[in-house]
Parts: sequence; C-alpha cells; structure tokens
Amino acid sequence: MRGVSINRGRPPHEKVFSMFEALEMAPPDAILGLTEAFKKDPNPDKINLAVGVYKDATGKTPILQVVREAEKRLLESETNKSYLPIPGPPEYGTAVRQLLFGRYSALVAGGRGVSAQTPGGTGALRVAADFLKQKTGRDRIWCSKPTWANHPAVFRAAGLTVDNYPYLDASGTALDLDAMLGTLRQIPAGDIVCLHACCHNPSGVDPTLEQWAEIGQVLNEQGLLPLVDFAYQGFAEGLEIDATGPRRVADLVPELIVCSSFSKNFGLYAERVGALTLVAESPANAAIALSHLKRCIRTNYSNPPKHGGAIVATVLGDDALRAQWTEELDAMRTRVNGMRQLFADTMRARGVDRDFAFITRQRGMFSFSGLTPEQVDRLRGEFSIYVVRSGRVNVAGMTARNMPRLCAAVAAVL
Ligand SMILES: Cc1ncc(COP(=O)(O)O)c(C=O)c1O
Repeated sequence: MRGVSINRGRPPHEKVFSMFEALEMAPPDAILGLTEAFKKDPNPDKINLAVGVYKDATGKTPILQVVREAEKRLLESETNKSYLPIPGPPEYGTAVRQLLFGRYSALVAGGRGVSAQTPGGTGALRVAADFLKQKTGRDRIWCSKPTWANHPAVFRAAGLTVDNYPYLDASGTALDLDAMLGTLRQIPAGDIVCLHACCHNPSGVDPTLEQWAEIGQVLNEQGLLPLVDFAYQGFAEGLEIDATGPRRVADLVPELIVCSSFSKNFGLYAERVGALTLVAESPANAAIALSHLKRCIRTNYSNPPKHGGAIVATVLGDDALRAQWTEELDAMRTRVNGMRQLFADTMRARGVDRDFAFITRQRGMFSFSGLTPEQVDRLRGEFSIYVVRSGRVNVAGMTARNMPRLCAAVAAVL
C-alpha cells in the first residue's frame, strides 16, 4: 500500500507500522518560505520585498490605532466566548455588503446578497470553490495569467480544474484587454472566471472602469460566473473607487461571488478575517445558496473565529471609528504610492537604462519588476534582498531609508 511501510529496516520482532515514514518532504510555500529564509538571514540591512504585508516608514507592520480602540471596547463589553453562527453574525455580513456595494446600494437593500464571515480571504476562496464544486456541479475556473500563486492551489484542492486567460501585454506591465476578452468569449457557459477586484496580484495592473464594463458585458453574454477576489479594497485609489469595477460587473450579471479580506486594509493578517458574499438573481435564490454555503462551512471549520470579525464590525458600525479607519488606510495607500514614485525616481537618478515609470502607474502592494529569476537570486545571495522569483516585488517593503541600498543593488544586477 502506498504511503504505508511496515518494519522498514527494523528487525522483524519489532512490529512497527507507519503511515508517515514513506512521505517525502513537501516543498516550502514559494512566498512564505522566503520569509522563513529572510528571518534567518543575519544581515542587518536585509530587505524583504517578498511577502504581501504592509510595512510603515520604519519597516514595521503596524497595528492600526483604530484596531486597538475597537479591541479595547470589545474587551470591556464581551460577555461570552460561545460559538458564532455558521456564517458569522448578521451585522458583520451587512457591513461587508455595504462596503462592497455601497451603503445605499439597491442590491444590498433588495436582499439579493448573502455573506459568510470566513477565516481570511483564503477561507472565502476555499468555501466558494467547495460550494461551486459540490453544490452547483461546476468543474472549471479560469484565472488570469499570471495570478496569485495560491489561487490555482486552493481551487484545485477543492476539486476544480484551473485554466488561464491572458491578462498582460508583451511588456508585462499593462493590461491586454483584447486578448483577455478574446479568451473569455471562447469559454463555455457555466464556467467560473476569477477576477482581481483591484491591485492585481502579482502585477499591480487593473482594468479601467470602462474596461470593467466590457468585461462584465462579456461575462454576461457568455453566461460565466464571476468570482471576484477583493483582497485589497482601499489600497489602489480609495475604498469607494476601488469598488467601482466590481460594482459595474455586479450591475451587468445576474449572479456573482465576492471573496473579500480584511487582512491588508485593517492590518488584521493573523486574525484571519474575510468574507464570502454571494449575489443571486433573487432573495429566495440567495437564501437557498446560503443554506448550502453553511453546509460547506460546517464540514470545514464549522464556524468562524470571532475576534477579527468583531473588530471589523465594531469599526464599520461606528461612524467615528470608520472615519478613523479610512484615514489610517489612506495613509497606508499614500505611503505605498509614494514609494512607487521614489523607486522610479531613484532608479532614474542613478542613470539606469531601464524605465521604471510603469511602477508608478500600477497600484496596490505589488509590481512586476521585470527582474529575471537569476537577477532575483543575485539580489538575495549578494545583497540579502528577498524577491519572489517571478520578479514580483512588494512595494510596501520599500522605505525612504532602504531605497538607496535597494536601487543600488537592483542597478548592480540589471
Ligand atoms: C490576491 C489575493 N487574494 C487573497 C489573499 C488572501 O488573503 P488572506 O490573508 O485574507 O487569506 C491574498 C493575500 O495575499 C491575495 O494577495
């Protein structure tokens, strides 16, 4: 039997049965594995541009003040640690839908949307994939090429087949809408299409609002279900502006799923807080879909963790806290966009041949730097600068302090 060894290499009188002995070491996660290597690097000037975590001007991942305030309130008011409902508290779901679609959206008021609080955006993606595979019999999902490395892994783990649609042009720094729509027009009805709502990971390249409308029209004509991954709301241009693309799509199609995350925009990475929001053609269909989502959740993690969701609901449910959150989020976004500009300016000032202006046009934490895997290896080996081998850089890992060293190193390996 594969994976089972009996008395391998031991004397016959020692009866040993092992399921695990025959396992081989799995490769480390491509991105999180780099962070482990980074932590072990003794170089005091090391720079981590690999993992998608926001860093402030001092290189720290801060706890937002508004989060501390919400936690203080929760500590004082919490009366029990009982289980949450399977889809989380209803007020959390309402707050999430209002954030996604607008406080006064007809879609929200009309009851066509249902939400479940999930362990992060990843949890939402997995529940969505389980639901689609198990409850609707869907088999295939299409991801942009490139996409976040965990997308295909999560979807395949749920039993879906993963295919790709083209996304970037030959330069790798801009959207090729014609190629994208050309492929979407070939996809058979009933397939699922995964879209990044904003701050496309790994490229930082997003469609314009007009392009979103074209995408929505094609999805509708073809009978494709959009699965929108919204992990960076507020990191491109602002909370409302970042939602305009997905809202346009929601206006054009009868049904969609949004998997959203509060890891980045609340800095709640470790609390694992996100949401799955399903929009159906009617409130009755939405209620039925939710009953099935609940079964998928019950057989997975049973019900969501409480703390992160309670923080988010506390902030979104209080106008003053919400305003404070928006301010802190604006400051994070402004810093990242400032680093984009500073990187392009510093490279230009160094007289580097390559034009890095494209970095200033991209949004969110990530950009494709155009560095080759060999150049990435040299950055790590010679300069203790950690970048994913695809050349994706986390701009949020740049600071005014590490910029000169970073740009000198990049110039040296180019
Ligand atoms: C595109 C994308 N989707 C989803 C996620 C998952 O976020 P979470 O940490 O909330 O699971 C990430 C996180 O890096 C991401 O980049």
